[in-house]
Amino acid sequence: GAAQPVIVAIDGPSGTGKSSTSKAVAAQLGLSYLDTGAQYRAITWWMVSNGIDIDDPTAIAAVAGKPEIVSGTDPADPTITVDGTDVAGPIRTPEVTSKVSAVSAVPEVRARITELQRSLAASAERGIVVEGRDIGTTVLPDADLKIFLTASAEARAARRSGELKGADVQSTREALIKRDAADSSRKTSPLAKADDAVEVDTTELTLAQVIECVVTLVGEKRAVK
Ligand code: DC
Repeated sequence: GAAQPVIVAIDGPSGTGKSSTSKAVAAQLGLSYLDTGAQYRAITWWMVSNGIDIDDPTAIAAVAGKPEIVSGTDPADPTITVDGTDVAGPIRTPEVTSKVSAVSAVPEVRARITELQRSLAASAERGIVVEGRDIGTTVLPDADLKIFLTASAEARAARRSGELKGADVQSTREALIKRDAADSSRKTSPLAKADDAVEVDTTELTLAQVIECVVTLVGEKRAVK
């Protein structure tokens, strides 16, 4: 029935419009929202701030359970804190962005963050839109709807450099491709499309069109629930 919580998983590489789409869909449907990339960025920020050697997976694993990461799931105001400190700004720096793939490849980090994600999804009364890389494949394999967003490398780089205000498109493109390759090739739950995910190529679509497409798909799933 309509009162059943609905779980939506939205995965894909960077620059496909995952965050904008997920937030808007959640807001429009009155669902909670979780940015799992922000959680990996937050734990990376903590590692960097505490002088942990990012090139040493054993060192990262040893302290993976230490920071307390809390995500606010209101799509109108998605917050993130580490040990009570608001880190929404610091997690978007180029330094954190360049180190997050190495930290998020460590199995102990993934186990910790995955547990947080599952508990937030289970406690969302009306349901939740969870965006990331491994949500449909690993974190929430029983999600009601799985979306895999794609776009050409050119489109993704152009969107990201637009967000970063004045960043060079060419170097943004190279950094994006490098991060996606690392995220897709790691051993533990790499970036991947779930077999039962709906793939949406956003290259030629406006944000409004992508949002409408996902909202329609959620509506169809709800009707058969
Ligand atoms: O979505 P984003 O660019 O903020 O994500 C940052 C990094 O976090 C991304 O390069 C890989 C990692 N990540 C992940 O490993 N698994 C997720 N579910 C989400 C993000």
